[in-house]
Amino acid sequence: MSGAAGGLFISLEGIDGAGKSTQSRLLAAHLRGLGRDVIETREPGGAAGAEDIRKLLVEGDPDRWSPETEILLFSAARRDHLERTIAPALARGAVVICDRFADSTRVYQGAARGDLRDLVDDIHARVIGVEPDLTLILDMEPAVALARGLARQSGEDRFEDMGLPFQERLRSGFQALARDFPDRCAMVDANQASEAIAQDIARIVEARL
Ligand code: TYD
Repeated sequence: MSGAAGGLFISLEGIDGAGKSTQSRLLAAHLRGLGRDVIETREPGGAAGAEDIRKLLVEGDPDRWSPETEILLFSAARRDHLERTIAPALARGAVVICDRFADSTRVYQGAARGDLRDLVDDIHARVIGVEPDLTLILDMEPAVALARGLARQSGEDRFEDMGLPFQERLRSGFQALARDFPDRCAMVDANQASEAIAQDIARIVEARL
């Protein structure tokens, strides 16, 4: 579904407030400047039905869903996103830049919210079965990222509201993931000015084009 079809599937991952959406926009502009067909998309969401599911997940009380229920909702949203947005774009040879993908479920639900990694992996294997060609993990100091995320007052702060120790568990989870999947994952130092982060990312991506 990915490289073989001519497209390139890139995901951006990291804790809340690490600057993924800014970097996703800058990377898309850079690749368009190189003449590539690029789509920018995000999870949870990225297709009409998946965006409806997103509201259920990111708004409301932190205790609204159990980690198990969250895994099912994120997976339902991801399947819709994959069918309707990601797979068609890769099939026509586009670069897909996705703000979060399955690694967020592995880390948020599989490690930080509960010890549910086996369940996450089983469901992923059955209903998703696709990995990005390249995953950029934006690594950042949790206290700084959390302050930034909450300052946005997006109304989508259900996960930010789980607090600093939760964000610290997430950071360790993403670092462990980078060690588990060294060929696919690249760590990016996100404690820098956004232009410097963008340059690091452009260098990593251009090596894969
Ligand atoms: P996102 O829109 O990326 O939020 P932010 O811009 O604050 O990083 O994602 C919304 C929230 O959903 C975010 O707190 C991370 C969480 N999430 C999971 O817990 N599991 C998942 O599988 C995904 C995709 C996101």
